[in-house]
Amino acid sequence: MAWNGRHFLSLADLSREEMIGLMRRASHYLDAGDRYEPDAPLAEKIVANLFLENSTRTRCSFTIATKRLGGDVVDLLGGTSSASKGETLVDTALNLEAMGVAGIVVRCSEENGPREIAEQAGIPIINAGSGTTSHPTQALLDAVTLTRHFGKEDLSMEHVAIVGDIAHSRVARSNVIGLTMLGANVTLVGPEELLPDDLDCDTSSDFDAVLSEASACIMLRVQFERDAKVGEDYRERFGLTESRANGFDGVIMHPGPLNRGLEIDDAVANIDNSPHNLILSQVTSGVATRMAILEHLIG
Ligand code: CP
Repeated sequence: MAWNGRHFLSLADLSREEMIGLMRRASHYLDAGDRYEPDAPLAEKIVANLFLENSTRTRCSFTIATKRLGGDVVDLLGGTSSASKGETLVDTALNLEAMGVAGIVVRCSEENGPREIAEQAGIPIINAGSGTTSHPTQALLDAVTLTRHFGKEDLSMEHVAIVGDIAHSRVARSNVIGLTMLGANVTLVGPEELLPDDLDCDTSSDFDAVLSEASACIMLRVQFERDAKVGEDYRERFGLTESRANGFDGVIMHPGPLNRGLEIDDAVANIDNSPHNLILSQVTSGVATRMAILEHLIG
C-alpha cells in the first residue's frame, strides 16, 4: 500500500524520499532544541493517545511533541478504557473521533489494529506500536539517530546488527524496513528459536562474528511478557557485556526499556561509561521525529 500521507501505519507505506523528508524535518526540530514552535501548527487541536499497552518513551514523547507544536493531548490508557468492558479497538477510536480529536496515536496488541481503525476513521491514525510486527515511529527515530551520527542519509557503507529477541520485536521488523530503505546492510542476531525465517535480511546466531563487522548494534529487550524463553547462557552468547562492548568501535542503541544485566550490562548502558552509547539520543530524537510526523499529518 502506498503512503497516502494521511495515516502513519508502516514504513513500508512510505517511499525513500517520503521517509527522508520526515527525517530532515525531525532533524530540523532536533537542531531547534527544546522550545515550543512559534507557529504552533497544532494550535487548537487535540490529539488522542490511545495506549492499550504500556509505554514510557513513546507515549510521553508523543505528548511532548504535540504540546511543543501547540496542541493538547487526551490520554486513554488500557486499564481505564471501556476496552476492559469488551469495546472493540475500532469502536473506541471512532468514539474518540466523534469527540472531535484531530488524530489518534494508537498502541495495541493487535497486529493490524491501527490499519483497521484507519480504514474507518476520518482523521489521521498513527501506529505507536502494534503487536509484534510494527513500530514505525521507533524505526524512524532510530534512522534519524543513526544518520545524524554518521553524518549521511545513505547508509550503504554501514552494517547494523539487531540483536536479541527478534521473534517478538516490532522494533526489529520496522527497522529492517527503514534501514534497508536507507541502504544499510542489516543482520538479525539471536538464538535460533528467536530468529523467525520470514524476514528479508541476513540472520546469525554468532554475535561476536557479526559484531566484528558492524558499525552499529541495536540491542533488543527480551520480551518475557510475550512468553520469550531464553537459556541461562543468553547473556554470555547474546548480551552486550562490558568486555564485548570494549572491543566494539561502533555505536550502541536500544529502544528501551532495558533489561540491565541480561541483554546489556549496566556498565555499557550507563552513558557516562560508553562514549558510543546513543540510547538516550534515541529518546531525544523520538520527540523531534514525532513532531515531524504530527506536523505532517495534522498540522
Ligand atoms: N521504545 C518503546 O517503544 O518504548 P516504550 O514501550 O516505553 O514506549
